[in-house]
Amino acid sequence: MGQTANQSLDISVPKVRREKIPEAEASDLKAEIKELLRRRKALLVAHYYTDEEIQILAEDTGGVVSDSLEMARFGHRSEAKILVVAGVRFMGETAKILNPEKTVLMPEIEANCSLDLGCPPDKFQALCNEHSDRTVVVYANTSVAVKAKADWMVTSGSAVDVISYLRDKGEKILWAPDKYLGDYVQKKTGADMLMWNGSCVVHEEFKARELQNMRRLKPHAAVIAHPESPAGVLCQADYVGSTTGLIDFVKRTEAEEIIVATDKGIFRKMELVGAGKKIIAAPTAGKSATCRSCAECPWMAMNSLIGLRNILRNLEPQITVSKDLAESALLPISRLLDFAESRRQVVFGNNDA
Ligand code: 13P
Ligand code: SF4
Repeated sequence: MGQTANQSLDISVPKVRREKIPEAEASDLKAEIKELLRRRKALLVAHYYTDEEIQILAEDTGGVVSDSLEMARFGHRSEAKILVVAGVRFMGETAKILNPEKTVLMPEIEANCSLDLGCPPDKFQALCNEHSDRTVVVYANTSVAVKAKADWMVTSGSAVDVISYLRDKGEKILWAPDKYLGDYVQKKTGADMLMWNGSCVVHEEFKARELQNMRRLKPHAAVIAHPESPAGVLCQADYVGSTTGLIDFVKRTEAEEIIVATDKGIFRKMELVGAGKKIIAAPTAGKSATCRSCAECPWMAMNSLIGLRNILRNLEPQITVSKDLAESALLPISRLLDFAESRRQVVFGNNDA
């Protein structure tokens, strides 16, 4: 692990709670949501980790199910005046920053992310002040206030390319907030990176030793992992990449069984593209496991049909970002989008292990 710059913060993690709605009621809710989306000319933009029924609603109504960056780009490209972002807080904020003129809503405004919560803007500012000689690169999973202090924003699929580019220019990096993703990128690029000590509570729970045992029992299975997972898991993976990258791997691999270290919400898409390939959850259990999430992001799970229906009925509360912060945060986001465009290649989701 590279050098980390601070103590990790203790994050309070909500329990994964999912609403249990009788089938007839759920079916009425879905019909009302479809009607409201149509009447309001709103677009539903959902992350792969959300519940299956929300993903299906997005697909059936002209919206999209994708990774965090494509969610932002899709909302930006669309003509819709109202975007409903089913995901977590930073995704809604990024949509608002890129589309200040649009109304941005979320089914659950309290849905956050341990990486965002673990990187308070004031503490982060103090670190930036101490290391003003370093280029500040932050992961997309951060608050708008943290992005506003950064030179670059990156996503899981673009981090290696951006850091290689900065390394070639001789720049030293201040990286935040995910220490595991940072460590992975540092090993890939050899860049000089000082790391914030943050982590994703979901991916942190994948267990290296239990994964080794599982691989012994399934010697022909491929292993794939999101780079927010610990190094002991990543070093066993045949492929490491963004959520979109992981789905693409499932599509193209010849392996019949694939062990997957990321949130289980993505299994729906993997099973759809996998044409019968078996998708197996990587182990989160074991002697040292606390199993706070068991491969289910508790904040993503807050997105519910009732929340979705209510937000479309009331159009409140909206995601708001102050003009000053939005202008500052737009800079690192635009740098990434321009970088990707200038390379004229798909830099997202391309991190072969
Ligand atoms: P992606 O950008 O790969 O969709 O990841 C977002 C995320 O929160 C992973 O935990
Ligand atoms: Fe954040 Fe982890 Fe949830 Fe992704 S899975 S939104 S990184 S807590």
